[in-house]
Amino acid sequence: TRSLAGLTALLQGLELEAIPDFPSADMLRQPIDIFHAYLADVLRQLVGCDPQQAYDAIQPANTTGNGDLDIVLPKLKLSGGPDLQDLAADLVKKFPSPHPLFAVPFKDGIHVRFFLSPKTLPNLLLPYILDRGPGYGLLRAPATVGGATGDNPSTPPPSPPDPKKVLVEFSSPNLGQDFRTDHLRSTILGAFVANAHEAMGWQVVRVNYLGDWGKHIGLLGLGWMRYGGEEGGGDAFRRVQEIYGRMEDEVRPRLAAKRRKAAAGEGEGGEEEEEDAIFAERDKAFKRLEDGDAQAVELWEKLRHVSVDYYAGEYRRMGVTFDDYSGESLVCRNPEAVAKVEKLLREKDISQLADDGSLVIDFGKHDAARWGHATLRGKDGLTTYFLRDVATVMDRLEDYSFDKLIYVVGEQDLHFRQVFKAVELLGRPDVTKRLQHLTFTRGPPQWGDEHILGDILNRCEEYVQTAVAAADADQVPRQLLSPADLRTMAVNSLVVHELNTRNKAHTIGLDVEMLMATEGETGLSLQFAYVKLCHLIEKLEPRSAGEWPTDFSSLWEAPWMELLRLLVRFPAVATTAYKSLEPGPVLSYLFQVVEELGYCLEDVEEEDAEGSRAAEEQGSTRAARLMLFKGTRQVLENGMRLLNITPVGGS
Ligand code: ARG
Repeated sequence: TRSLAGLTALLQGLELEAIPDFPSADMLRQPIDIFHAYLADVLRQLVGCDPQQAYDAIQPANTTGNGDLDIVLPKLKLSGGPDLQDLAADLVKKFPSPHPLFAVPFKDGIHVRFFLSPKTLPNLLLPYILDRGPGYGLLRAPATVGGATGDNPSTPPPSPPDPKKVLVEFSSPNLGQDFRTDHLRSTILGAFVANAHEAMGWQVVRVNYLGDWGKHIGLLGLGWMRYGGEEGGGDAFRRVQEIYGRMEDEVRPRLAAKRRKAAAGEGEGGEEEEEDAIFAERDKAFKRLEDGDAQAVELWEKLRHVSVDYYAGEYRRMGVTFDDYSGESLVCRNPEAVAKVEKLLREKDISQLADDGSLVIDFGKHDAARWGHATLRGKDGLTTYFLRDVATVMDRLEDYSFDKLIYVVGEQDLHFRQVFKAVELLGRPDVTKRLQHLTFTRGPPQWGDEHILGDILNRCEEYVQTAVAAADADQVPRQLLSPADLRTMAVNSLVVHELNTRNKAHTIGLDVEMLMATEGETGLSLQFAYVKLCHLIEKLEPRSAGEWPTDFSSLWEAPWMELLRLLVRFPAVATTAYKSLEPGPVLSYLFQVVEELGYCLEDVEEEDAEGSRAAEEQGSTRAARLMLFKGTRQVLENGMRLLNITPVGGS
């Protein structure tokens, strides 16, 4: 099924005429489009309309309860305004039955609904899925795929020769500071966004925009000196975090007091000046860094190194790798890039000096009053988060000449609007069009009691180990899970937990019960189902001795047929998720598959228990079911990979 010729041969074997040619049909990726094309051809003949018109009037059914394909009569846009109810009835009557691809259609108002014929679907779909393997439903398997368990690791079709390039910026924690819930969400959502693009043929660059520059680095430097960072032994990363935490504790109440006083309209008192000394010191330390003071830069480099090393290791545990860690320290890495942007802004009169000496953009002066003001440099002359972000866009453009840049960042909506507008004002509306901010609600700042990514992962491991140990023996073949598998499962469960909670109330950061639940739509139940399926395939495989099933009649009924009808939907689910950058549909789809698979397994178990081996012993039944199980495993695996969930349990 790798080529149209191959598909044609397969279809001829099913006694179908040559595939009708429709430019919008994507038959090598979406098997449903084969059915769609044949149906459009019949429709065209019956109504006598233009072929494309017929094609466009057909859509996949919204739910499996409504069949598989759906002719929406108004979409035919027939001239003369025929009575659509009558037309629907007429079409049902005239539809050539029995048709090799469809069961008898039925009328539903102005819809004519079709179920795929059980007699063709398995023969067509299962070889298709197994042939495509990790690329089924996708343009290609995501590059992150490692150790795929499919039996048919044949390479999927090559991606287009000149793929488009997308930069996905995600995770982006700040040096010294806590790894917050929003960083975790960004990591999980960003990994999905990157994988989905890869799967749809993009060249993907994963970027971590570390918060490795700014006043908080000044504060960290101060703390390092004050608390003897060099002397402390042990884990350097934890020392960095701890020292920064101490400094923050000191600063936080003062910041609050300052805000309170400002709000009460109190002037600057002598006492406050003294209190403010720490801010002045912090800013001075950061200024030394921006001025390129050798000692300050050396210390900064060291602390940065410690953090990048640490994070790279923890991300690896999560199955995430970044191609680029260059963050806000662009100011240091490429000061010319910053200078260039600033010069352009000044020359074009986009920015101006405010009364207090800071350099600002007043968006009101550029027909964008709703975006307010943004500061490029403070009155102290130091760069801001905003300036660094604007300069970074231009720098990335030089380095990567990207077609798209997606920021996966919780909230900060106004900030990104301002950055995108500034890029437009710089004379690059073409670049602004390529920028996208994928936002989400941040949730509570902290994930459980943990402040550090590694501790979050450790905690998950504990929870998952406990939950697996407590699970019923019939829920999961525990003895098959290695310690490494359990670690992977912990990360996977965290991913599912995050995806499940991210659109819910702001308050859900960690729901231990949900994380540990082995039933319902949870990470563990998904993984248990996958492990069990792999186990079953291993058991069945030797008995079928590589036999290729010729008789699929054992799959013509529910639940088998229902499972097949779900599998045919995967490519559309993947496409929707990719287009909307929303992983939710993939996850709920996987749970639908797991549920339907569960009914099939129940059937198998019942037959086993009844000892009614007759059916099971029949070679053709066994071979057909084995093939369906393998197809299901492949689809589960492909969906999980999109979500950056590593399937565990295959050998
Ligand atoms: N480091 C920032 C934070 O922790 C997130 C960075 C978002 N990305 C960006 N290009 N500004 O909030």
